[in-house]
Amino acid sequence: MIIEINNLFVKLKNKEILKDINLVVENEESFVILGPSGSGKTVLLKTMLGLITPTSGSLVILGHDISRVTPKELLDLRRKTGMVFQNAALFDSMTVWENVGFSLIEHFKLPEEEVRKQVQDVLSAVGLTDVMDKMPEELSGGMRKRVGIARALIFKPQIIFYDEPTAGLDVITSASIVKLMRKIHNQFHTTDVIVTHDLTIARKLADQIAVISDGRILDTGKWEYLLTSENEFIRHFLNEGEKYENTTY
Ligand SMILES: Nc1ncnc2c1ncn2[C@@H]1O[C@H](COP(=O)(O)OP(=O)(O)OP(=O)(O)O)[C@@H](O)[C@H]1O
Ligand SMILES: [Mg+2]
Repeated sequence: MIIEINNLFVKLKNKEILKDINLVVENEESFVILGPSGSGKTVLLKTMLGLITPTSGSLVILGHDISRVTPKELLDLRRKTGMVFQNAALFDSMTVWENVGFSLIEHFKLPEEEVRKQVQDVLSAVGLTDVMDKMPEELSGGMRKRVGIARALIFKPQIIFYDEPTAGLDVITSASIVKLMRKIHNQFHTTDVIVTHDLTIARKLADQIAVISDGRILDTGKWEYLLTSENEFIRHFLNEGEKYENTTY
């Protein structure tokens, strides 16, 4: 397996945020962590990235126990994982190519020509052309998301973490991002961990869905299984979405 989490607890400012999290993500799986606002999705993602230290429990990523990694191993792990931040998190004062190639410039001091070449490759993988020298403010929300995805791809990662990849986008742009995520998954054979409250993502992309509410994973399984879950919260959450999605506009 690629990621294994056992009995993980996270406390922030003395408040228990994640409670007894258990999950396993297999190689090349699209694993969706689905839950409402404030349920702890971003905290869980940050914990997986080693940005938040758990109070107890174990977290193993690509064979490394996160609580025991050396700085060198952590750097190696960073290179094998890509992160797509909520709201793209681009640097406004840098061009698109500098944003996407940032780590190549910072860590490897590669020459501009080489960075631009690699940036060009990942930009075309996300369906963007002629944006290299633009500033982020010149792009639409959907294009910014694509740039954020391109940046996550720059090291050809084994795992991509997505935080709310469709938040703040209209229905049509959301659908195009979902399609892009599937294309990238198939093309680069990545393992994807996607945290979202977007039911369409769960339905269309997920091999496994873990439903989180108030810091606890209530159940894990495929969409069809969860639709008829014994847990009332899950049934309600998923079925409300189904109704909504079947509405034609
Ligand atoms: N640094 C922090 N210190 C204290 N509490 C925090 C911190 N970060 C998050 N929390 C709390 O943890 C809980 C979960 O927050 P989190 O951001 O993970 O939710 P989320 O599921 O990502 O929500 P959303 O869908 O709105 O992004 C919230 O109650 C939040 O207030
Ligand atoms: Mg969040």
